[in-house]
Amino acid sequence: MTDLFGDTEPLGPAREDLAPGAVVLHGRALALQDDLLAAVDAVAAEAPFRRMVTPGGFRMSVAMTNCGTAGWVTDRKGYRYSPTDPETGKPWPAMPSAFLRLAAAAAAEAGFPGFVPDACLINRYEPGARLSLHQDRDERDFGQPIVSVSLGLPATFQFGGQKRADPVRKVALRHGDVVVWGGPSRLFFHGVLALKDGEHPATGRTRINLTLRKAL
Ligand code: SIN
Ligand code: FE2
Repeated sequence: MTDLFGDTEPLGPAREDLAPGAVVLHGRALALQDDLLAAVDAVAAEAPFRRMVTPGGFRMSVAMTNCGTAGWVTDRKGYRYSPTDPETGKPWPAMPSAFLRLAAAAAAEAGFPGFVPDACLINRYEPGARLSLHQDRDERDFGQPIVSVSLGLPATFQFGGQKRADPVRKVALRHGDVVVWGGPSRLFFHGVLALKDGEHPATGRTRINLTLRKAL
């Protein structure tokens, strides 16, 4: 099979189950890619990408920004959601409607109807950037799923279990793929291996990930 960008590897089935409550919807974001990427540029014009510092004092390799009523931030004081951008003191840009529509539709297809995210963390990976295994646990209600949208360069996503030491499954995520996890796998460890160098027609030498959450 050949996709829009001439990749010749098989894309596999449209729906790939990872664990109870966790599914990859391959290509689910493709129809909205132009709106999504234009919205990322608009958000980043107001709230620029920045590499934040972990509580342990390490600068993250992934550059981040946010939109929505709350944004995920980290600094020497810890991880938390903030209603304002610490760089500018202003509220984060509003959640673009394309983000809301895609998140609600993908969550519903994965078995989580009625998902209305209030926070979107936007991650930008350049070659070599990685995200070590972690849980998304700064949100108030773990009854709400996570919706994660991949754009641009492909990456290897790791999806483990409830414990850090649980075996991880490696999943290739490409431009337009959407991962949803919730219910029994809501707190499963996950991460992204170091991004391989490449050039993508839609994003250049980067991968963009949108992580949509109900944080508050
Ligand atoms: C995350 O866990 O916040 C990001 C996952 C990804 O980039 O695919
Ligand atoms: Fe995460």
